[in-house]
Amino acid sequence: MTSTPGKAPAADAGSHAEATQAAPVPLLIVDDEAAHTRALCDTLQIEGYATTGVVSASAALAAMREHTFDLLLTDLMMPEMDGIALLRAAQEIDPDVAGIVMTGHATIDTAVRAMQAGACDYIVKPFRMNQLLPVITRALEARRLRRLNQELERRILERTRELEVANRDLEAFAYSVSHDLHAPLRAIQGFCDLFLEDYGAGVPEAGREMLKQVRSGADRMGHLIEDLLSFARSGRVPLDLQPVSMNDLVGEVLVELLREHAARRVELEVRELPDCLADRALLRQVLVNLLSNAFKFTASRDPARIEVRGGLSNDEVVYVVADNGAGFDMKRADKLFGVFQRLHSQQEFGGTGIGLSIVQRIVERHGGTVRGEGRPGAGATFTFSLPVPPAAGA
Ligand SMILES: Nc1ncnc2c1ncn2[C@@H]1O[C@H](COP(=O)(O)OP(=O)(O)OP(=O)(O)O)[C@@H](O)[C@H]1O
Ligand SMILES: [Mg+2]
Repeated sequence: MTSTPGKAPAADAGSHAEATQAAPVPLLIVDDEAAHTRALCDTLQIEGYATTGVVSASAALAAMREHTFDLLLTDLMMPEMDGIALLRAAQEIDPDVAGIVMTGHATIDTAVRAMQAGACDYIVKPFRMNQLLPVITRALEARRLRRLNQELERRILERTRELEVANRDLEAFAYSVSHDLHAPLRAIQGFCDLFLEDYGAGVPEAGREMLKQVRSGADRMGHLIEDLLSFARSGRVPLDLQPVSMNDLVGEVLVELLREHAARRVELEVRELPDCLADRALLRQVLVNLLSNAFKFTASRDPARIEVRGGLSNDEVVYVVADNGAGFDMKRADKLFGVFQRLHSQQEFGGTGIGLSIVQRIVERHGGTVRGEGRPGAGATFTFSLPVPPAAGA
């Protein structure tokens, strides 16, 4: 692939390499001493390169506008333009071209200037062919790696852009669908209620039962839509980062959950938790989702045990929510954070399967990670990381 589309590769100036499978690598050789240029061209041709030789900087630039060369091997001292200026001009025509400067003045200064101009290497004159060949190979290899790197970066950017667009589309779609589904759903729920109220008495029991099923199906759909909306929202709202006291936040969430599960025996252990830097409202959602899972999946335990602990690890804060509930099979752990993915049946434990996908999305938006570990019948442990607040980091 060339960076200057439309340009033909350099003519094979009589190279003997036509029999090889790969096209010979095109080199441009510039030296104001014609005999030196010719000698280099001939020898490098024998080595399998496609060489083009010129005796002035202007001829070199003209050749570069016509053809693509992988490497420019230039003399340093030339009358109209020195090798370093030539390299700069050449790289304006083709930023990918590798450069080697041949210099008779082997001062550090010359070498540094040549490097600054983008020459991959320099070689001190006079030199022998067995000294030049490894320098050429190295320069070409560096060029290949540089191009590969650029190509990879370009591909990453392209993929990221595609992903961003796809994500935005998907979010906009999820958002508008969820929004638009609300109205007809409310109509179904409302008419079911009205029908049961106004005509329920005249409908046989089996008919009323069917209508109740419709009503509860609509309710479930309402929950799904609500969850989908909050999933879409968790990716849309801008982050309002601030230092958050995790102990306070966990306390708030637990008060609510304990009220909801007042009839159960739950042993809570909340250790001293480090603060973090986070969007408080979104982080609250993370805790609600993880802790309500811990309450839900310990429903059959008496007492249920739920523990929240945390600590600093390198440059992040790590929190853990562990329970002694139903656990899950690690073989299916890759499904944990997928939207609408559930590892337990609706009969065992109710739910939509969106709570953990919201957790993951929020944690990742903060630059953290989340993982879950479990064993069937032996509880589950969820671990997530967040950035450290500036004061704690210092
Ligand atoms: N603490 C836990 N113990 C055992 N399994 C869990 C636990 N937390 C999550 N899981 C498993 O991961 C699945 C996905 O969890 P998630 O919170 O996303 O969905 P959910 O709780 O089923 O529904 P909801 O959308 O209402 O949260 C659960 O259905 C369950 O199978
Ligand atoms: Mg859940």
